[in-house]
Amino acid sequence: MANIFTGKVFLLVTGASRGIGKQIVQTFGALLEGKSHVLLLSRNSELLKKSVDDMPEGVVASYKSIDFSQTSTRELKDVLLDSMKNEKPESFERAIVVHCAAMANFTQLTNEMTDLDEWHKSFNLNMFSPAVLNGIFMDVFKNQATNKYVVNISSYWGLKPDVYVGSYCAAKAAKDMFFKVFALENPDVQVLNYLPGFVGTDMFHDVLKVSKNEELKKKISQMVADKSFVTPEQTVQYLVEVLKKQEYKSGNMKTSVADPWSSVDSCGNGDAGNSDLSEASSSAATVQKSFEDSFVDSSATASEDLQKLPDSEQYLARLQSRLKAIQGGTSKRDLINSLSEAKEDCIARLITAGQNLETAEERELAANPVIRHIAPHLQALTANELVHLLKADVLQKVVDEQNNQSENEDTESKSTDSQPDIQNQDCNGL
Ligand SMILES: NC(=O)c1ccc[n+]([C@@H]2O[C@H](COP(=O)([O-])OP(=O)(O)OC[C@H]3O[C@@H](n4cnc5c(N)ncnc54)[C@H](OP(=O)(O)O)[C@@H]3O)[C@@H](O)[C@H]2O)c1
Repeated sequence: MANIFTGKVFLLVTGASRGIGKQIVQTFGALLEGKSHVLLLSRNSELLKKSVDDMPEGVVASYKSIDFSQTSTRELKDVLLDSMKNEKPESFERAIVVHCAAMANFTQLTNEMTDLDEWHKSFNLNMFSPAVLNGIFMDVFKNQATNKYVVNISSYWGLKPDVYVGSYCAAKAAKDMFFKVFALENPDVQVLNYLPGFVGTDMFHDVLKVSKNEELKKKISQMVADKSFVTPEQTVQYLVEVLKKQEYKSGNMKTSVADPWSSVDSCGNGDAGNSDLSEASSSAATVQKSFEDSFVDSSATASEDLQKLPDSEQYLARLQSRLKAIQGGTSKRDLINSLSEAKEDCIARLITAGQNLETAEERELAANPVIRHIAPHLQALTANELVHLLKADVLQKVVDEQNNQSENEDTESKSTDSQPDIQNQDCNGL
């Protein structure tokens, strides 16, 4: 059955000298039929040449040393056209481009990223060059006869923020979005954003060597000890299956392995680019069926992780005593007593004054709505209004007393209060 690798194929792989890119060349190369072309790009020509030498017979392979952090449109175009070796683009049944080259700096905090040249290099390599190369590739293979496929190698760091990798996270996120837009604009091209998982490559081991993120280093050391990371062979084998079966919607993201950032078995399907959820797995990795992309650290919300401030008990006791004081006079017993007094008063009035429930004073002071409306200053207060005002006065007195009391308490406990704030700030740091 025909698939992405059958027929005469043109395959371009960036970052082909090492790691995942090198494995893609090997695995894809072995599936290609004769007369297919392979073009390998990265900086290290010695390693690229080795990969070219390993290509199966019949496949026309070439390589070019190129630094994507400081290349130009002209150079990228020339490299691609030269590799065609006078073949017409339309002679290829399929054209595949795999954007894999990347590099991260694991040592800088965002506030330290003030060198514009470094920003340019990072974005040139991780975002701009793939975008430009992709456009050139599409232009060369613009004919209708050639089926076109784009594979963008994504990263969790393009989905989830992490310390010390700010420029890499930003560039990877931008690159993912670029290819999603590209997919929308080019429905005739199959676009896959592929998340390879935590793969045991140079990049993976570099984290251990140079990263300043101690938490991440601990996690990776554990993965190395458990051998729970994915090998390049495993992740590329899964990628091959996805591509062969076309098990994705163009522009979607696909991953084969567990979210290395979370040990929680959560299956949140955050948008993250309309993620397709993987069914396949690697034998070495602890496999989840999806990744969490909620941008919320679920572990931080776990109740066992919530630490009590040292003054929690005192604070609660103070609140309780204030509540008790405010509740004074409104207990159930007080309410029943006052109701029973009102009831006796009412009965007495019924007996002595017949049907009239209002007291003589109340009747005398009853508000005349007309006078009240036209001359409110001439209308005396009714008995009910007086009662309300009295109540408000008493309440104000109680509140004032409480405020005075709590002010005194605050002054006494000032030294105890300032300490936990400082400790709390420390807890929220790195
Ligand atoms: N390893 C992981 O756990 C992991 C996880 C998620 C995503 N990824 C993604 O997978 C892809 C490959 O990563 P990897 O783990 O295989 O990394 P790697 O082993 O460090 O390989 C990086 C590749 O990029 C090339 N490269 C680096 N800087 C370059 C430049 N300035 N110009 C041209 N080529 C350059 C390197 O070749 P030269 O040195 O010869 O130039 C090499 O071939 C990356 O896109 C990465 O984001 C990896």
